[in-house]
Amino acid sequence: MEKMISIARGMRDVLPEEQKYWAYLRSVTQTRLQSFGFQPIDTPIVEPKDLYLRGAGKESDIVQKELFAVSRTGSRGEDEPQDESNTRDLVLRPEGTAGFVRAYIEHGMRTWSQPVKLYSFVQNFRYDRPQKGRYRQHTQINVEVFGDETPLTDAMTLLALWQIIQDLQLDDQLVIELNSIGDKACRGQIRTALKAYYEPLLPHLCKQCQERFHSNPLRLLDCKQAECQQYREAAPATIDSLCTECRAHFMLVLEYLDEAGVPYDLNHYLVRGLDYYTRTTFEIRHRDDSHRQAVLGGGGRYDDLVEALGGQPTPAFGFGLGMERVVEKLIDRGIEVKPLMSTEILVIQLGDRAKKKAIPLLVSLSKKGLAASMALGKESLKSQLRSADKMGAKLALIVGEREAIDGTIIVRNMFDGTQDTVAFDDVEMVIERKLAELAQD
Ligand code: HAM
Repeated sequence: MEKMISIARGMRDVLPEEQKYWAYLRSVTQTRLQSFGFQPIDTPIVEPKDLYLRGAGKESDIVQKELFAVSRTGSRGEDEPQDESNTRDLVLRPEGTAGFVRAYIEHGMRTWSQPVKLYSFVQNFRYDRPQKGRYRQHTQINVEVFGDETPLTDAMTLLALWQIIQDLQLDDQLVIELNSIGDKACRGQIRTALKAYYEPLLPHLCKQCQERFHSNPLRLLDCKQAECQQYREAAPATIDSLCTECRAHFMLVLEYLDEAGVPYDLNHYLVRGLDYYTRTTFEIRHRDDSHRQAVLGGGGRYDDLVEALGGQPTPAFGFGLGMERVVEKLIDRGIEVKPLMSTEILVIQLGDRAKKKAIPLLVSLSKKGLAASMALGKESLKSQLRSADKMGAKLALIVGEREAIDGTIIVRNMFDGTQDTVAFDDVEMVIERKLAELAQD
């Protein structure tokens, strides 16, 4: 026997039994987002590496350690046209925001009616240390609003997110944590305050924090190492160093959220792992922190990113909700989810003549939009009835040799085992009546 090839580390298969949760999550999300005026968009999985160097920031983990490079095999040689130049350094997308920004700039969305509100289901790739809830390929519901700097956009996008969480019946378990980390005008003050506090503590901090002290002191606040966390409590809160405009912006976000009935907790340490954020930052977490992957989603405002990626200055706000983590939560909580459309009618055929009768019947039922199929590879009545049971079929249509000759068919109710013999020509009418009766029961 040949050696089996197993799945790449950190990747996972989503098997049929889990698919109904994904379909449910996608459907709930699309309905809610579209009702809030968001439009769907799809951007490529492969993008130029520079997009993330300038997007997420050189200091971020996803750029420093986690990018999956895409190597081209072969080259088009000397005659390589100029427009191939940006296919040289490609990566698999580690997050969705930078791709949305590129598309916003490249398609001139600035000329569309503002704000431009977009969403997508994006598959992201991060070369991370895999564990439950943390994979090297993961999926996010990615939502972005471009072109409005007012706090109303922050609050209304958070309202859409909270309503999705309510639709999923997870609102009793999750909480939105909020912070503001200022903008260009006050980030310097925030850094200075943090550096003043942390400087005497430097020898006690982990190596990464010692480096980040110089490169990005805000990230000292979200270090997970115990030796660093003990100092966090007394660290200066970012909101205490905000400039007047950022403070006013944040206060209005909170007031609008109160008006909208969206609950939140303030978290002074919430700085996020990506460098593009300005002003509002937030995460969706489990109330009970003992969960290993406690964060289900996160986002915030990023008013400088469009300009940093070559566009006109354009304010923006958005979030990413981790779908694997949400699906896991739905399953853990035993949330009832409708099964995907499954076989309602199984056509059972006994013998060659019956098979030939069964095929046009199946074609005709399918054309009517009924979920009908045959038990392939099974010959006996018993084994085919067992298949009908396993598939959850409501009706079995049995065509034996005798029925094939008589021009009749047996319609069996799979719930109570009752059977009727009906003329072949009447079968569709009988099926519709029986399905309608069963739907009422
Ligand atoms: P992020 O915090 O890196 O933000 O990811 C958002 C969510 O994606 C996380 O809270 C988590 O639920 C899920 N996630 C991230 N990495 C993994 C992983 N390795 N395995 C499973 N789930 C994961 C962003 O990516 C930003 N682009 C969000 C955003 C949109 N900000 C503004 N707009």
